[in-house]
Amino acid sequence: MKISFKVNDKDYSLDVEPNIRLVDILRDRLNLTGTKEGCGEGECGTCTVIMDKYAVHSCLVLASQVDGTEIITVEGLQKEGQLDKLQEEFIKRGAIQCGFCTPGMLMSAKALFMKKPNPTVEEIKHEMAGNMCRCTGYEKITEGVQDAAESN
Ligand code: FES
Ligand code: FES
Repeated sequence: MKISFKVNDKDYSLDVEPNIRLVDILRDRLNLTGTKEGCGEGECGTCTVIMDKYAVHSCLVLASQVDGTEIITVEGLQKEGQLDKLQEEFIKRGAIQCGFCTPGMLMSAKALFMKKPNPTVEEIKHEMAGNMCRCTGYEKITEGVQDAAESN
């Protein structure tokens, strides 16, 4: 099937198998390897991207659902070489160890900010409950998102 969609402000038209997943389209067809695959079952959140302003697990989205949408991946966060505030605060807070979960964390937080620029700590924790991290214990991640929210 043919699908047309936008990723990080760029238009794409691709011929794809209908059952290919968004995570595979991004990584294998568009070479946007910032989006990671962990569980492949919608449990870990490493594959999170923003689709039409909502955070989605790209391992659970099929090609047919992608047609006509607008996607933002972690590569789309920086603008003209300038990191997004969230990325800067994650670095400052040391909210990254292995970094495998980080793209998904950033995209969930970015989707939250699109709905609510100044979320409470509880709202941050609630929104990011679907993103697992085995390294940082979550405190630094939550603090990094809080710091970015304060500067919104
Ligand atoms: S790889 Fe998609 S949720 Fe784990
Ligand atoms: S930094 Fe390693 S899983 Fe989160």
